[in-house]
Amino acid sequence: MKVIIPAAGVGTRLKPHTLTLPKPLLHIGGKTILDYLLEPVTELDPEEVRFVIGYKGDMIKEHVEKNYSFNSTFVVQDELLGLGYALHIALRDVANTPLMVLLGDTIIESDLKKFIRAGKYALGLRQVPDPQRFGIAELDDGYVSHLIEKPKEPKSNLALIGLYYFEESDSLKLELQKLVESGKTTRGEIQLTDALARMIANGTKFTPFEVEGWFDCGKKETMLSTNRHFLKKVPVPERIQDSVIIPPVYVGDDVSIEKSVIGPNVSLARGAVIKHSIISDSIIGRDARVEDMVIQESIVGREVVLKGRKKILNIGDSTEISGC
Ligand code: G1P
Repeated sequence: MKVIIPAAGVGTRLKPHTLTLPKPLLHIGGKTILDYLLEPVTELDPEEVRFVIGYKGDMIKEHVEKNYSFNSTFVVQDELLGLGYALHIALRDVANTPLMVLLGDTIIESDLKKFIRAGKYALGLRQVPDPQRFGIAELDDGYVSHLIEKPKEPKSNLALIGLYYFEESDSLKLELQKLVESGKTTRGEIQLTDALARMIANGTKFTPFEVEGWFDCGKKETMLSTNRHFLKKVPVPERIQDSVIIPPVYVGDDVSIEKSVIGPNVSLARGAVIKHSIISDSIIGRDARVEDMVIQESIVGREVVLKGRKKILNIGDSTEISGC
């Protein structure tokens, strides 16, 4: 089986962090978003994992080649014309093969082995409260009967979560090719969902597969809630003299903590230096330096230096101080 991971997007909603890193390499609970995806993929022992890269693609290539031993290949997406186009160029020189597609900026907690055995063709789905934001599936008689990309008036709340399986990749390749040649777009993009809808119209039966966990990393708030979820799984850090650690907390290698209160729900990436600070519900990037600060619900990038102003106060009754 081959795996294709489209990972060319810009991650606009996560600026400023995506100004220096592609979204799949943002850090959550001690790992990158991409690592959460690739670790279970490795267990499937794929014949090839092909990445579609674009924005800061060299960084993705370097990360994958440094950390994973599977056979990886990289296709550069020259134009951001949509997910359908990304897969079209990824499949151009691929001979017919079983294929799994996973979107490179989502974290899924699900049994992928079970997924690829669910049916000859299968789609990862999950009920969502806001179906207008997603590709939406309707079911009939145990199979997917209709697919519509981001409908204004959704007929179901079952969203495509970015996990697809094809027993034969040629059927998808052909529909994508027809779509690209016809120039048909939906919402201005060549959509994978449109190619899948045509496969269904031609008689392909997609088995719906509801995933257990799907973690959005699309904006700061959802990154922090995903961080909270994955921190529950990290071991309790060792005690640190003169500091208080309130689990769950992830402490990376070479982190230094001095006279601080850290946690709950804090990720400190490798090399971070924290002094005289109180940090909760935050992600602190690699080699960042935080001194004399009170931080909450924050994402601090790599190599950031934050130094607060110390206040020495002698104040009386009923005082209120706010802001920083
Ligand atoms: C893409 C797909 C959409 C799917 C979504 C999942 O949309 O086109 O069908 O529901 O991923 O995240 P995008 O998020 O790229 O707009």
